[in-house]
Amino acid sequence: MTEDSILTERKGHILIVTLNRPERMNALDRSTLAAGAKFIKELNYDRDIRVVIITGTGDKAFCAGADLKERENMTMSEVRQYIHTIRDTFTNIENLPIPVICAINGIALGGGLEFALACDIRIASPNARMGLTEVTLGIIPGGGGTQRLPRLVGRGKAKEMLFLGLQLTAQEALEIGLINRIAPEGKLMEFAMEMAEKICNNSPIAIQQAKIAVNQGLDVDIGRGLVIESEAYEVCIPTKDRLEALAAFKEKRKPVFKGE
Ligand code: COA
Repeated sequence: MTEDSILTERKGHILIVTLNRPERMNALDRSTLAAGAKFIKELNYDRDIRVVIITGTGDKAFCAGADLKERENMTMSEVRQYIHTIRDTFTNIENLPIPVICAINGIALGGGLEFALACDIRIASPNARMGLTEVTLGIIPGGGGTQRLPRLVGRGKAKEMLFLGLQLTAQEALEIGLINRIAPEGKLMEFAMEMAEKICNNSPIAIQQAKIAVNQGLDVDIGRGLVIESEAYEVCIPTKDRLEALAAFKEKRKPVFKGE
């Protein structure tokens, strides 16, 4: 990566991560991907961060997927390695113990949309456009897109998007549940920060357990899913945060959660 291909900024308990290769529509080259992969792993141990917002520099692109200029000169073995790394990295994002909001500030194509799909919540600017366009390049999504997209929007819509290489507008993406919200024009980061701050007001342990229950529960039958929910609830019972919420209710004040 050039030193600054991923920018990070902390605002209280919120971490803003910005893909910063605007001259390539924030496409992911190997070194940016490697740096991102390392960074995501380290984030697992940062207890001060309660929400991550991922976005891209500029107002044209969140991420145009793999760096196709770099790809042109890669051997088959290097391509395999890249795909392996991107798949693992997106899975590591999905499994982070904190919520990840993707602020889609423009184009999200191929790996760019797969990146967004690995996040917990997607909000987009009105000019965003997104699609898994890989078949137009003779490949298929390799960063989890064929699995996460149908789980989010259903198999029919997913197959239509995949087979036609469709690029949806923000409004179209909203209508099929691919994104959660469209931010007002020019206000994407404000909108994302507002959402992140609201999440920060809640118990980080409860949020972590809710995320685990949803993520793990969706891939099993409902009986097993309810067991997972029960196990996740159990984690919350002995916490100071739970007692703090009860005390705050009684004292008619807002709770202050410490994640303990
Ligand atoms: N990899 C590397 N460079 C990319 C890129 C990518 N995925 N996507 C865009 N760029 C570069 C362009 O080559 C161009 O740089 P150049 O002028 O030095 O050649 C610059 O970003 C701007 O792109 P441009 O195509 O001129 O802008 P546009 O607004 O007309 O179109 C896109 C934007 C994203 C629609 C178009 O560039 C595109 O289709 N990119 C490929 C996206 C894709 O298929 N991704 C899936 C990969 S698996």
